[in-house]
Amino acid sequence: MEPEQPAQRFGAHPAALTASAPGRVNLIGEHTDYTGGLVLPMAIPFQTNVEIAHAADGMYTFHSAQFQESRVMPPSDQSPAAGNWSDYSVGVLRELQALGVRPEPFYLTVDGNVPLGSGLSSSASIEVATAMALLQHTGKHLPIPEIALLCQRAENVYVHSPCGIMDQFAITAATAGHALLLNTRDLTYQLLPMNTGELAGCVVVVVNSMVRHTVTAGSEYAQRRRELEAGQQVLRERFGVRDLGEATVEQLLACAGAMSAESLKRCRHVITENGRVREAAEAMTAGDAKRLGELMTAAHASERDDFECSVEEVDFLVDTAVQQAGCFGARLTGGGFGGCTVNLLLAGEADRFTAAIRQAYQERYGITAQTFVCEAAAGAVERAATAGSDVTAGTDVAAGRADQL
Ligand code: GLA
Repeated sequence: MEPEQPAQRFGAHPAALTASAPGRVNLIGEHTDYTGGLVLPMAIPFQTNVEIAHAADGMYTFHSAQFQESRVMPPSDQSPAAGNWSDYSVGVLRELQALGVRPEPFYLTVDGNVPLGSGLSSSASIEVATAMALLQHTGKHLPIPEIALLCQRAENVYVHSPCGIMDQFAITAATAGHALLLNTRDLTYQLLPMNTGELAGCVVVVVNSMVRHTVTAGSEYAQRRRELEAGQQVLRERFGVRDLGEATVEQLLACAGAMSAESLKRCRHVITENGRVREAAEAMTAGDAKRLGELMTAAHASERDDFECSVEEVDFLVDTAVQQAGCFGARLTGGGFGGCTVNLLLAGEADRFTAAIRQAYQERYGITAQTFVCEAAAGAVERAATAGSDVTAGTDVAAGRADQL
């Protein structure tokens, strides 16, 4: 049977709207985004594209161009997560419905090139692109933080993944040429130029280890989060801090006897990591590549030893990277248990660096690593503005409270 063409389903409304969202790489600030901490990610030039058109069949259809698969449902659908790509989009729909939005029937196609399951936020990219497309489709507007929070809720509630806010926020709000320093307690943020001083001569290189400990990644993340929150609770009770974002190592050590050894290590990672993010932002502002790189490498040691979210292959990539000429620093990026490293290096060394890393990794593990030299890309809102769409959340902040939808 011939595959059905989207145009056949669009019926009398063939015009399609599009929205696009990037992936992200986190420069520093890992596992700090669910206890009121700081993160410093940037958007990367991969993208999820979502096309949406009115459907004449009265249904909501989600179609993946990559998987050549569709999920079709009536507007009243209440089915649970299907365990595939569609859940991120359906979760966003559900959250919009929870706000009282009732989209007209649609045919929505998801396509893109964000590497899947690699710690570069392919899922948040689908969520944000879907949210932008559904908002256009319904003529509704939301400000940046509300879009990001809605997408995070979609992942927490529908997909049952207990992620923080970093990915959805960075993908929504990032600006080309900048990293985004986000305070995850109150969602205030600052855009830091990536080309100050020595940084003008540097590039960010992402290396994909191609390993993903999928069996443990989800459950280990949740486990780490529980251990961290248990430690945070002790600090709250003892010192009245709001969250780990304002706790100190001295306070933590004073409570050492009142929490598990795991909680102590997880909290130590997060408290010291918040300090490193602060310093990294200063280094970036001063254009000090050497200091920024040192902080990234120190962050990796803390992820490896205290948060225990690294794996052997990733440690090998980091150790190999920091021995290369022109490499200022390297670390595991994203949730961990496999995935990618992020490396800061002199632009002129990028080709030699990627060749050396790939060769060493191939020889050691027999795996071909993927490498990407990444510019800081535009977030979904900037892309929408550039494309002339009216879904420019930034211009609509005052009008766009979720409770006014
Ligand atoms: C994943 C989550 C984020 C964040 C990172 C770790 O990417 O989605 O919210 O917790 O892990 O920093």
